[in-house]
Amino acid sequence: MGEEVERALSTAQGVHEPSLALHVEDLTASYASGAVLWDVDMNVPPGVLAAIVGPNGAGKSTLLKCVIGALRPAAGHVYVFGRPYRQQRHRVAYVPQRTSVDWDFPTTALDVVTMGLYGRLGWLRRPGKREDDEAHEALAMVGMDAFAERQISQLSGGQQQRVFLARALVQDADLYLMDEPFAGVDATTERAIVDLFKDLRRRGKTVVAVHHDLQTVATYFDWLALLNVRLIAQGPVREVYTAEHLRAAYGPRVVLLEQTAEA
Ligand SMILES: Nc1ncnc2c1ncn2[C@@H]1O[C@H](COP(=O)(O)OP(=O)(O)O)[C@@H](O)[C@H]1O
Ligand SMILES: [Mg+2]
Repeated sequence: MGEEVERALSTAQGVHEPSLALHVEDLTASYASGAVLWDVDMNVPPGVLAAIVGPNGAGKSTLLKCVIGALRPAAGHVYVFGRPYRQQRHRVAYVPQRTSVDWDFPTTALDVVTMGLYGRLGWLRRPGKREDDEAHEALAMVGMDAFAERQISQLSGGQQQRVFLARALVQDADLYLMDEPFAGVDATTERAIVDLFKDLRRRGKTVVAVHHDLQTVATYFDWLALLNVRLIAQGPVREVYTAEHLRAAYGPRVVLLEQTAEA
C-alpha cells in the first residue's frame, strides 16, 4: 500500500499524525471583514513549550479558537494527538486572553477553579470535598489559595491570570492552550507562570501559548510558530528565531528585535 493511500485512509478514519500534540492542516478562517488566517499548517510535537508569535491582528487568538472549535474554520482540519478535537476535549485545557473575559461575573476564585473540574464531574454530580481539596491545591500551586473566597472582579490582572492557570491545572490536561498568559502580569506572576510551564513540561505535558514579548521567546519556549495571517516559520526556537523570520512576520521595522535575535 502506497504512502499516499495510507495517509488518505488514516485521514478518512479521523486519525492523523498521532505523534503530534497539535496538527493544524490547511486552516483558513475568516470573519465578515475577510480572511484572518490563510492556509496555515502547524505542527507541535508533544512535550514542548511552544509559542505562537506574531503582530497584533495576526490571527493568533483566532487560531486557538479554531483549535477548540469555538470558531468554525472556512477550510482545514485540526487534530489533537492524532484525533479531531471533539474526541480529545478532555485532554485539552484552554486559558482565554484575559482581556476577552467578563470579570464582573459574580464568582469567587475557588468557583472559577472548580469549574475546571466540571468536565470530569459531568453536570449531574456536584463538586464535593475531593474537588474542593483539588481546587485549593491548584490555587496554592499558583500562590493564590489565600484569595480562594475573593470575588474575581476584586483581583489584580496578575492574580486573575493565576486563577485561570489554576483552573487549567485541575483539568489535568495533556495539551494546554493559553492566549497571552503573560499579558499585563507583574514580575512575580511572570516567574510563577514560567515555573509552572517547566513543571508541566517535566510531566510530559504540551503547552501552546500565544506570546507577545519577543525578548523572552527564546528563554521561555523551545518551539516557535511565527504567524501573520499565514504561517511564516515553525520549528525549534533556536532555528526559527532569526532576524530574517522576524522581518517576514513583522515587516522591516523590527530593527531592535533583530538585534535581540542575533544576540
Ligand atoms: N469576532 C470578530 N469579528 C470580526 N473580526 C474579528 C473578530 N475577532 C478578531 N477579528 C479580527 O481578526 C483579525 C485577527 O484577530 P486575532 O485572532 O484576535 O489576532 P491576534 O490574536 O493575533 O491579535 C484582526 O484583524 C481582528 O480585528
Ligand atoms: Mg489575540
